[in-house]
Amino acid sequence: MITSAHIDDIRTQVRAWRAKGETVAFVPTMGNLHQGHITLVKEAAKKCDHVVASIFVNPMQFGQNEDLDAYPRTLEADSQALTAAGAELLFTPTPAVIYPKGLAQQTYVEVPGISDVLCGASRPGHFRGVSTIVCKLFNIVQPDVAFFGNKDYQQLLVIRTMVEDLSLPIEIIGIDTIREASGLAMSSRNGYLTVEEKAAAPALKKAIDAMAQGIKQGISIEQVTEEAKASLTAAGFTPDYLEVRHADTLAKAETQDKALVILAAAYLGKARLIDNLRFDR
Ligand code: PAF
Repeated sequence: MITSAHIDDIRTQVRAWRAKGETVAFVPTMGNLHQGHITLVKEAAKKCDHVVASIFVNPMQFGQNEDLDAYPRTLEADSQALTAAGAELLFTPTPAVIYPKGLAQQTYVEVPGISDVLCGASRPGHFRGVSTIVCKLFNIVQPDVAFFGNKDYQQLLVIRTMVEDLSLPIEIIGIDTIREASGLAMSSRNGYLTVEEKAAAPALKKAIDAMAQGIKQGISIEQVTEEAKASLTAAGFTPDYLEVRHADTLAKAETQDKALVILAAAYLGKARLIDNLRFDR
């Protein structure tokens, strides 16, 4: 795998592939890779002739009191895993390459509405950071297809909306969440959990599943939500939000809505875990 921190190197290689009429898939990451990321790379390799990955811990999407400095940097292990999964080109820019004038002077991309609710409300500026970096990376790599995890459901919708609104010629593919045997969604932030917290963490998925079950049985959204919050609190979580929304717009679920998504964010010790379930009522 070729690894470079320089935009020109990435463009030169991608241009060479394109000149031969070959297709390019892209998997952007912040590193500290787990099986969820590796699945994205493997799916990307099935779909296109070449896979480009990026590792960049994007300062623009972290709030002031968030874990930017503590975010694990594991480049060597990540490179090995990416190579084994089929990536051929890895972009590892520094913040100075991506934001040469600093964050305050950086032009940004903001997707209105959908960026402001749920994680956007709890983490102001987060999705501005995500859409800006993903737009920049798309312009650098110019892939045919880009892969993201469905675990970050709101992020996926923000990116789909950005691509549509800015007429970017890139297909966005969401890949199902990869879970541990316990049901816990794989996440770089699981590394912050103690052994006891890790044992308690599957309660998040269980609470979401129970909500979906209840809604399908005709129990009210209010009641299933109250019960799920109580079960999370009993398991040691501090819920941030637990919501049933329209699956495509993330608007509050109305009685007539069929396509629904349950989205949850909750603190367990130092870790803020998120998970979701999309289903039809
Ligand atoms: O999901 C992530 O890892 C990040 O938000 C992304 C899409 C790589 C942008 O920094």
